[in-house]
Amino acid sequence: MKKTKLALLFGGKSNEYTVSLHSASAIIQNVPTEKFDVILIGITKDGKWLLYDGDVESINNDTWYNDNLNQVMLSMDNDFKGFIKLNGNSFEKIEADVIFPVLHGKNGEDGTIQGMCQMAGIPYVGCNMTSSAICMDKEFTHIVCEMAGIKTAPFIAAVKSSTLNTKHLYDECLQKLSLPLFIKPANNGSSLGISKVRNYEQFEKGIVEAFEFDSKVVIESMIEGFEIGCAVIGNENLIIGEVDEVETKNDFFDYVEKYTQHNSKIHCPARI
Ligand SMILES: Nc1ncnc2c1ncn2[C@@H]1O[C@H](COP(=O)(O)OP(=O)(O)OP(=O)(O)O)[C@@H](O)[C@H]1O
Ligand SMILES: [Mg+2]
Repeated sequence: MKKTKLALLFGGKSNEYTVSLHSASAIIQNVPTEKFDVILIGITKDGKWLLYDGDVESINNDTWYNDNLNQVMLSMDNDFKGFIKLNGNSFEKIEADVIFPVLHGKNGEDGTIQGMCQMAGIPYVGCNMTSSAICMDKEFTHIVCEMAGIKTAPFIAAVKSSTLNTKHLYDECLQKLSLPLFIKPANNGSSLGISKVRNYEQFEKGIVEAFEFDSKVVIESMIEGFEIGCAVIGNENLIIGEVDEVETKNDFFDYVEKYTQHNSKIHCPARI
């Protein structure tokens, strides 16, 4: 049987670049090689796409990059589905049947890369462009969930502007929401830029921090309880994973805890 040519993208122009390296290493080591020929494409933090043929360990510890790697571009010509490898003044075509964007955060999970794959006419793994864009933006996730009758935490969204008055925003939060509050960049992941605040002093700091990651913030009331997660994959026939549960001794499941789990434990299946 002919093997499927799978182009796996890792890294990315995102502050979750390192998270992607770890995800990609895990996936590369588990791809069934009897079914797939894997083409590895690393995207640097500044957005260069490079064809990579080294070992997985170097991806995991972020030493994969070197000056000898050839630049590649996604072909937007639907008569040729794949990548163009640049080599000095010459180029080479590399066919791809499917793209697996193992990318996190902006430019990876937000519909941008999904849109590019769609334009290129190549199927890709993961949510489509619209779902990705909506799920990446926490304000839109709230709106869409609420419209669908799914309860979410009470929230307020605010956009960075010269007229934004932090004290007025805090007063509005006290009126509509309840302390403690979670302040988040609207578009980000891995808990980066998120703070849990209990008073105005912390609120002011939290707003500044969140705006370092995005020009829009989402502020939510804290939901009492515990956190569960569940993976769903498929198009018509869905495969639903085990429900997992996060137990943490920290104030919340922050960036460090997500990837070190010093004070946290994942229970799978969840104790529900
Ligand atoms: N409203 C809330 N009530 C209680 N805890 C919250 C709330 N919002 C966020 N948290 C805590 O902060 C963590 C990060 O929040 P959230 O999941 O919204 O951010 P994230 O950066 O999108 O993370 P990821 O995309 O990696 O899931 C959660 O795992 C949870 O521990
Ligand atoms: Mg989360």
